[in-house]
Amino acid sequence: MANAEQLVSLVRSGVTGDKEALQKIVESIVADANSKSHHILADRLKRALAAPPQPSLTTSRIMGNDQAGRQLIHEIEPRRQLSDLLLPEAAQEEARNLIEEQQRADVLRAHGIEPRHRILLSGPPGNGKTSFAEAIAESLAIPFYVVRYDALIGSYLGETNARLRKLFDYIKTIRCVLFFDEFDAVGKERGDDHETGEIKRVVSFLLMQIDHLPSYVVIMAATNHAELLDRAVWRRFQQRILFPAPTEAQIAVYLDRVFSNWEEAKGANPKDIAHRLQARSYAEALDFCQTVKRRHILSFSQITFKDIVKNELYLSQQSVKPEVDSIIIRNY
Ligand SMILES: Nc1ncnc2c1ncn2[C@@H]1O[C@H](COP(=O)(O)OP(=O)(O)OP(=O)(O)O)[C@@H](O)[C@H]1O
Ligand SMILES: [Mg+2]
Repeated sequence: MANAEQLVSLVRSGVTGDKEALQKIVESIVADANSKSHHILADRLKRALAAPPQPSLTTSRIMGNDQAGRQLIHEIEPRRQLSDLLLPEAAQEEARNLIEEQQRADVLRAHGIEPRHRILLSGPPGNGKTSFAEAIAESLAIPFYVVRYDALIGSYLGETNARLRKLFDYIKTIRCVLFFDEFDAVGKERGDDHETGEIKRVVSFLLMQIDHLPSYVVIMAATNHAELLDRAVWRRFQQRILFPAPTEAQIAVYLDRVFSNWEEAKGANPKDIAHRLQARSYAEALDFCQTVKRRHILSFSQITFKDIVKNELYLSQQSVKPEVDSIIIRNY
């Protein structure tokens, strides 16, 4: 599989002298992969081939400034697909629009307008913000980079800004999704009396960098606390997508999906389980399913799925639950 990964990134990078020859080779590999039922690889290769080549990646290498910027991000191979996620209608539509604008950017540019590329994802924990960002990178067949705050935030005056500059200098050379998780940690209300001048300078500098990013860099920022964001920060984002906590009915749909892949879960009643589970997020429902699976595996099928579910529901009712996140819990 390592070779397959290398091939996908080679195709993505567009590093080749003869594009037509590469196209022919990739098409024959796609056909071969399809004939062996390796449909995922075939699909990823096809999309990597269709995606526009990475801009001047080699230039940054020649300039030798890539290492400093590279250390400030963490690359995740995008595997999650949008179809894996249960999303509100609005989020689905925003995703379709973003993907279309990015894929047909040349049409927009021919009319003198750039595709949107600055997206804010907000909502309570565990409802798909990170997964969504990864799935967008997967759909666009471009790399998914997560900003490493541990490497970015410096303790000396001006240090963070110097690193931010390196990060953005590097990122500008690559068509990618750049993900800022827990963005409220950096983009907080600047009017806060407790904040120092240094934080204000970092936020201002960050906004300036975001403003100057080319539109082939899709910047996504996630927050559980959208209301803490400075209005100037808020304004930068062209799409602001909400990931609300799921309703009981939506958790039932989620459980139904998970159970449909389990032989032993046949006959389970997702609606009843969702009612008793009272999960506050998809992540909580996922945890529950995985726990049931673990118990079932370790019982060597001696305990029925139904009994394990019953016991785990009991345990989850007894366990400590977090306070309801009052910020954005609403139905969709
Ligand atoms: N909308 C969803 N549909 C399907 N599965 C979901 C959804 N949201 C979350 N999950 C499941 O829960 C896990 C955690 O979700 P994710 O990390 O994307 O949440 P998040 O919103 O980024 O949370 P946090 O605010 O804590 O970072 C995912 O790996 C996924 O399996
Ligand atoms: Mg997250």
